Amino acid sequence: MSNQNDAFKKIIAHSKEYGFIYQSSEIYDGLSAVYDYGPYGSELKKNIKEYWWKSMVQMNENIVGIDASILMHPTTWKASGHVDAFNDPLIDNKTSNKRYRADVLVEEYIAKIEAKANKEITKAAKRFGESFDKDQFVATNPRVVKYHTEMETIANRLGKAMTDGNLDDLKELIVDLKIACPESGSREWTDVRQFNLMFSTQLGTIAGEAGVLYLRPETAQGIFVNFSNVQKTTRQKIPFGIAQIGKAFRNEIVARQFIFRMREFEQMEMQFFIKPGTQQEWYKHWKESRLRWHKALGTADDMLRFHDHDSLAHYADAAVDIEFNFPFGFKELEGIHSRTDFDLRAHGEHSGRKQQYFDPTINENYVPYVVETSIGCDRMFLSVMTNSLIEETITDAKGKTSTRDVLKVHPALAPIKCAVLPLKRNHEGIVAKAKGIFDDLKLSFNCQYDDTGSIGKLYRRQDAIGTPYCITVDFDSLDDNMVTIRERDSMTQERVPIDKVEGIVRERVNMKQLLKSI
Ligand code: GAP
Repeated sequence: MSNQNDAFKKIIAHSKEYGFIYQSSEIYDGLSAVYDYGPYGSELKKNIKEYWWKSMVQMNENIVGIDASILMHPTTWKASGHVDAFNDPLIDNKTSNKRYRADVLVEEYIAKIEAKANKEITKAAKRFGESFDKDQFVATNPRVVKYHTEMETIANRLGKAMTDGNLDDLKELIVDLKIACPESGSREWTDVRQFNLMFSTQLGTIAGEAGVLYLRPETAQGIFVNFSNVQKTTRQKIPFGIAQIGKAFRNEIVARQFIFRMREFEQMEMQFFIKPGTQQEWYKHWKESRLRWHKALGTADDMLRFHDHDSLAHYADAAVDIEFNFPFGFKELEGIHSRTDFDLRAHGEHSGRKQQYFDPTINENYVPYVVETSIGCDRMFLSVMTNSLIEETITDAKGKTSTRDVLKVHPALAPIKCAVLPLKRNHEGIVAKAKGIFDDLKLSFNCQYDDTGSIGKLYRRQDAIGTPYCITVDFDSLDDNMVTIRERDSMTQERVPIDKVEGIVRERVNMKQLLKSI
């Protein structure tokens, strides 16, 4: 656990130190759960989005992209169910005035019991050594059995209260378990009530309730309300998809874990419109396809897993998460949902305009079903950082060891593709040659010219931001027109003619190779 904590702290500190992510409005002590992407972060995020967009829109003739507005007609959210059902159960502590998610308070209580059970198991494993039979110990040790029974009982009560939407039972559970406010230690709680997660704002021209607008809590609805427009103007035939990347906003109450849970975040969503009855086949297709997309980046098999939803959202008939092993454990990275015809049908009813498709293959009109893939761009960013940031011990030619922080991000996602480093920053000939190479390479790639330190320091800095190649111009370059090209991961250095540099860099940083490998 503490190793995991350290790894997470390291990602957060590295993100700030090297200009990937800053706390929003930091000079005013920040705004919680809102973050800004710095120079390298915004490049990396842009590349993640490009990888997603190209894999969806460019690689599939039957998927097109749109860019819908954040603000939508308020009836959209009534139809989608978000006004009535996009809620979290909240409870306030009367002493500290702190607000909590009631279900999370109970989940944290369960996690504490689990930690106690795990402690017993770890202690026993140490005591018995090689002969330790974990399954038998868990099944027979009275203390562990007691902890597990207790956890199960509480989880069942929580599950029932949540499924029934019974807020009184939820409060009773908190009282029965004697859960205290983590801040004040007080057990003085208000009743539990539902809290809608949508941020609202007011239209300037209409006063009161009638002028209330919402910041979209998912990008998907911008796609649904444009279904007919897109289908007619692109003449797509079912099955076809509409993809979109854009901001979404949720007034999250438990807003922790850095960019994992934010109040303003970005989603990459694709709604795939299909013939009713074919949803199982397409659900399976998109599950497999999305997992391949993640694995093409080099993510190890044991870092990703599927997790079927226990309880389904109001719109879904099947749902699975692709979970990633974040530094704080396996958590949802992406959702694949079979959304039936819920959204199109609801928009048809609320707008009075049927959202149908005429299928020429069967000469019939129907409301299409939808399978959606939905991934948070920020969570993807965090998973890339988790996978890539490595502290390595290296040994130099004289046998001296040191460490380097290296961001082994896939070269196609790297913020800077290559850095041009003059060996002597005041040497006219070297500078002119290095600048010439840089000016040429920058027409093709995002490059950096850096002469602000010793070559060793410059390499370390480029390693830390994930630059796949460094090109060093030295005295010999002036005579032989060759440079040293150093590769980030292996740190191997090779002397190559200047006119070969662009080809070498392109070969590895090209998005084409990555897309081919999906
Ligand atoms: N249209 C379906 C939908 O919005 P969701 O599971 O609520 O489904 C989809 O969200 C994805 O959006 C999640 O898998 C996650 O990656 C991302 N996401 C959701 N809430 C988020 C938050 N508060 N901060 C960052 N990412 C979030």
